[in-house]
Amino acid sequence: MNTFQENLWLSLPIPGFLIDPGDAIAEANPAAESFLNASARSVRNSPVFDTLAIDAPLDGAFQRVRKDQSSLFMNNVDVGTGAAAPVNCNIQIAPMTQMPGFVLVLMEPRGLADRLGRSMSVKSAAKSAIGMAEMLAHEIKNPLAGITGAAQLLSMNLGGDDLELTDLIVSETRRIVKLLDQVEQFGNLRPPERHAVNIHDLLDRARKSANVGFGAHMSFVELYDPSLPATYVDGDQMLQVFLNLLKNASEASKGAPGVIQIRTFYEQSLRLRRKDGTASLPLQVEISDDGPGLPPEIAAEVFEPFVSGRENGTGLGLALVSKIISDHEGWISVDSVPGRTVFRISLPVAPKEDAS
Ligand SMILES: Nc1ncnc2c1ncn2[C@@H]1O[C@H](COP(=O)(O)OP(=O)(O)OP(=O)(O)O)[C@@H](O)[C@H]1O
Ligand SMILES: [Mg+2]
Repeated sequence: MNTFQENLWLSLPIPGFLIDPGDAIAEANPAAESFLNASARSVRNSPVFDTLAIDAPLDGAFQRVRKDQSSLFMNNVDVGTGAAAPVNCNIQIAPMTQMPGFVLVLMEPRGLADRLGRSMSVKSAAKSAIGMAEMLAHEIKNPLAGITGAAQLLSMNLGGDDLELTDLIVSETRRIVKLLDQVEQFGNLRPPERHAVNIHDLLDRARKSANVGFGAHMSFVELYDPSLPATYVDGDQMLQVFLNLLKNASEASKGAPGVIQIRTFYEQSLRLRRKDGTASLPLQVEISDDGPGLPPEIAAEVFEPFVSGRENGTGLGLALVSKIISDHEGWISVDSVPGRTVFRISLPVAPKEDAS
């Protein structure tokens, strides 16, 4: 390493780990040393999973980064070190292009992001306000309906420029109603009623409504593993998840034709480490598109409410997706480069007595 690179590594304000091809820690920077409360020397060559208890399927993530040679973001992950209480972090895993098989893991403790003055605090304030927001949303929709109706009545006797103004009232009011609808969805989100469900039935339903609606300009490729066992989810909520992801994938192409691939497969290696043991999430659903990819400036925060890269986006679609998936104790991750964006959802298998 030259001096600049070495300095960069030493002065990086967030914990960084270099992981070797065998998933052992090759290097840890000073911020990682203080995060672990251990010296880099003492953790060098030890398996990363022995050093960090991470509430996420990290082993699968490393493999994907190595295979795809592209970065992966994981938000809102609890990282424990054994020594202290787990810290909530956003994690980025990047391939080391000059060192085959090595990956770089950067962790940004979410509290730290606040101290660094990032916009994160605004986002978490937004999150806690959402409970009240959905109550208000309901109340605001009634007078809005009155405003739209009145504007439409007025427009009957108007022409020219004035008509443009009433049209503006109507269209902007509709936009508010759409936003409120989405805010309300959070409030209406009951705890999932989980049953044994055939995931392909849900995907088919989502794909069909995409086909005739928002995704009419896209073509869909289905790569289903027909032997997948039933999953254990709330069908309505999971349908909403797939619809939101298909909608984002369709909107990413900005009206141009594109291809959305829906893939299901079984991958046993994904285990979620939880405080009360491990949960196995072997059913994988991937929804990928060939659009431009996540805008880099929001890539690390797309699951936060009100984060949107689209002009008319409310930024609630993925926040809802992530809430539903976490209510199901499932896992979602995203892997995005221009030309290929993959959202992967990992779900549990239905317990035996429920499988029909
Ligand atoms: N498949 C994708 N390709 C490219 N960018 C995406 C993709 N999915 C999401 N994004 C980006 O992430 C942002 C957040 O998505 P999200 O669904 O949460 O909100 P939205 O689509 O902007 O608004 P809403 O879904 O509430 O109408 C999007 O605005 C877009 O910039
Ligand atoms: Mg969306």
